[in-house]
Amino acid sequence: MRILSGIQPSGAFHLGNYFGMMRKMIEYQEQHELFCFMANLHAMTTVKDGELLAKQTLDAATTFLALGLNPEKSTFWVQSEVKEVTLLTWILSNYISIGLLERCHSYKDKISRGFSPNAGLFTYPILMAADILLFQSDRVPVGKDQKQHLEVTREIAIRFNNQHGQVFTIPEPEINEEVAVVPGIDGQKMSKSYNNTIEIFIDKKQLKKKVMSIVTDSKTLDEPKNPDNCNVFKLYSLFLSKDDSEALRQRYLQGGLGYGDVKKELLETIWNYFEPYREKKRALDEDSESVKKILEIGAEKARAVAVQTMKEVCRKVGV
Ligand code: ADP
Ligand code: TRP
Repeated sequence: MRILSGIQPSGAFHLGNYFGMMRKMIEYQEQHELFCFMANLHAMTTVKDGELLAKQTLDAATTFLALGLNPEKSTFWVQSEVKEVTLLTWILSNYISIGLLERCHSYKDKISRGFSPNAGLFTYPILMAADILLFQSDRVPVGKDQKQHLEVTREIAIRFNNQHGQVFTIPEPEINEEVAVVPGIDGQKMSKSYNNTIEIFIDKKQLKKKVMSIVTDSKTLDEPKNPDNCNVFKLYSLFLSKDDSEALRQRYLQGGLGYGDVKKELLETIWNYFEPYREKKRALDEDSESVKKILEIGAEKARAVAVQTMKEVCRKVGV
């Protein structure tokens, strides 16, 4: 089975990215054919500083590699390095109605948060469809916020196939409901654009500041507490086994548990969890040439597949 997903290098990766998408991708490389890329063309819709985008793209790749993505077991590249994706975007834009794009929440959400409504933001889902269909992906692991984009992709692929015969694989989204939405320190969805993130690679002092500022209710130490509406519990559980999470739930329900103490435990848990990867990140940061080389080889591998799909697509549409 071919599994593909991408991530925008629009800022430092956080726990939402890790549990929503990255961890699963890294696991999949062991049993499946994995395609994973840095969606820098998508990030252009919101990041206008070229130098910053280039820097963040490299940092995104470095973060993935440090966390265990193995470029020998997967195809790992930067989106813009496989130019076929832009040609396919144009071709696919003729197989989707404006109405469908207008209904996309992500576009409406970004506009309402003050991003300029440029055409790139509007056609974002077509580029995403091109990413997925170009590589004939079977399955696409994403967070819940991307579900609608996957529906658009399927719709485009079905319309194209109806017209031209079986050209594209129809992809299935894969959304892990348990971690569908990782909360940020303010309780909203953790997101780079909400300023509520806990980054994966952050120094301990900053991590402490963030963890200590996670919003909780104002129950006193002795009162029993409800784990299900507690952001600290939700974040902590991501790191725990089922049994340990259940034990923590009991401590909440019994009372006598202070938020300050659980936050300290959470701080240590996050710190220790990412400890094995920190040294690797540091080493890769100092050796960006090797990272660039890995990405070049990855782009070549990806291109070989893309060219095959485009041969067929171009023949069908007559260009
Ligand atoms: P952000 O909202 O921080 O810009 P992206 O949109 O770049 O994050 O998301 C990259 C990947 O991480 C996607 O698959 C997305 O669904 C997932 N993801 C992002 N934030 C969360 C979250 N809070 N909970 C679960 N998954 C998330
Ligand atoms: N839009 C996705 C996000 O913000 C990133 C992305 C771009 C993607 N192309 C993709 C995800 C293709 C899966 C498949 O998270």
